[in-house]
Amino acid sequence: MIRELLEAHAGEEYDLYSRTINPQFMRVLRTIGFDRTWVRAQGQYLYDADGERFLDLLGGFGMFNVGRNNERVRAALIETLELETPGSVQLGVSLLPGLLAEELLRRTPARLSHVLFTSSGTEAVEAALKLGRAATGRSRVLSADSGFHGLTLGSLSASGDPHFVDRFGPLLPDFARVPFGDAEALERELRREDVALFLIEPVQGKGVNLPPDGYLERAQELCRSYGTLFAVDEVQTGFARTGKLFAFEHWGLEPDLVPVAKSLSGGYVPVGGLLMADRVYDGVFDSLEHSVSHGSTFAPNDLAMAAGIATLRELDEQDLVERSAAIGATLLERTRALAEEFEVVRDVRGLGLMWAMEFAEPESGSLAWRVMERVQTGLFAQLVVVPLFVRHRILTQVAGHDLAVLKALPPLVLTEEDVDDFVTALEDVIRKATRPARVAGLALRAARAR
Ligand SMILES: Cc1ncc(COP(=O)(O)O)c(C=O)c1O
Repeated sequence: MIRELLEAHAGEEYDLYSRTINPQFMRVLRTIGFDRTWVRAQGQYLYDADGERFLDLLGGFGMFNVGRNNERVRAALIETLELETPGSVQLGVSLLPGLLAEELLRRTPARLSHVLFTSSGTEAVEAALKLGRAATGRSRVLSADSGFHGLTLGSLSASGDPHFVDRFGPLLPDFARVPFGDAEALERELRREDVALFLIEPVQGKGVNLPPDGYLERAQELCRSYGTLFAVDEVQTGFARTGKLFAFEHWGLEPDLVPVAKSLSGGYVPVGGLLMADRVYDGVFDSLEHSVSHGSTFAPNDLAMAAGIATLRELDEQDLVERSAAIGATLLERTRALAEEFEVVRDVRGLGLMWAMEFAEPESGSLAWRVMERVQTGLFAQLVVVPLFVRHRILTQVAGHDLAVLKALPPLVLTEEDVDDFVTALEDVIRKATRPARVAGLALRAARAR
């Protein structure tokens, strides 16, 4: 039935989406030439209706760590469907949630003792906010400037990005932010001993900002001294993205709360979870009356759980942690060479396969660059993303609103050959984009398009 439907309506996706879901988004895709008809996906590649292969360095915003349409995760899902498992009894439990929880806890520090499943990253963060408040009896929540934790109201209150916040206020009370990397500012807030939790991404997704040396360790120490829960958001960095199974392992951290999601199901079905320490579990689920203090109808469901178990196994069996570290190091080294070659490349940074290239006005000065930035901050990165896609068939993204930062979150099955292709394409695109006449022309075109 689905095959027939897909065949009968082939090529109608943009019109249909435009009529029924979001015409404005379709206008954006059409304007930038991203309105391809996709027919297949495998590993790190997408294929369009013309039979062209695209290298997917966006990875569904980082949810295809084990590769798109991973056959072993798919087999686990089909098997689960065919078993007709008795999931979601609600007043009763099935086996798969406990098995996945056990697998997660086996891979994390002993401090983390219980799991609450959700169906998305933002719900896992919401759970951290709610349970953190209840467990500590405090209401204040601290997070870091330029953080991103999701788009529901609680997570937004922690993120504070004006592009997502404007028009949706008022946000939740008792949220405050401190500069990322500034332990003294954090201590000033924590000293009041009224902060329930400090929520932080170990590597910030928006901009791919790495923490300064010693910062996260100090943040954990400060949280412990002032009775604040240390919540490390691994929604984007988890499951081998940064070359460790969880990014917090790079700094030997032992958080009290860890929201996870995205790639836990191999990208097949919605899934999320909050890993928590005893202090949180015991502080919230402290009586029969409080045994169902938080939850959601679909979480946990057997399909998500089966996909999670299969994904963790796939990460192990395909050595994807090591691969992410090794290919990530190659990508960083190869692309850092471009910073030597082009003045406009200000920085290249990353950890594992979470990678970014930041652009800035050449130090020798460029009027065209300044005109372009006046049209729209960060425009140059978009002028790299578009030709990478259109000319070189490589899908990437800008790392956040108003940022001149190109970002990649590829499936971890990326090969050295893919890295070669990306470096060659980047070199070509940056060379062309930095020709003065070209920058001026692009700035003019962008100004007209507004
Ligand atoms: C660090 C972080 N936390 C939370 C979220 C929200 O996850 P979701 O989109 O599944 O709600 C994201 C999404 O990009 C994220 O990167």
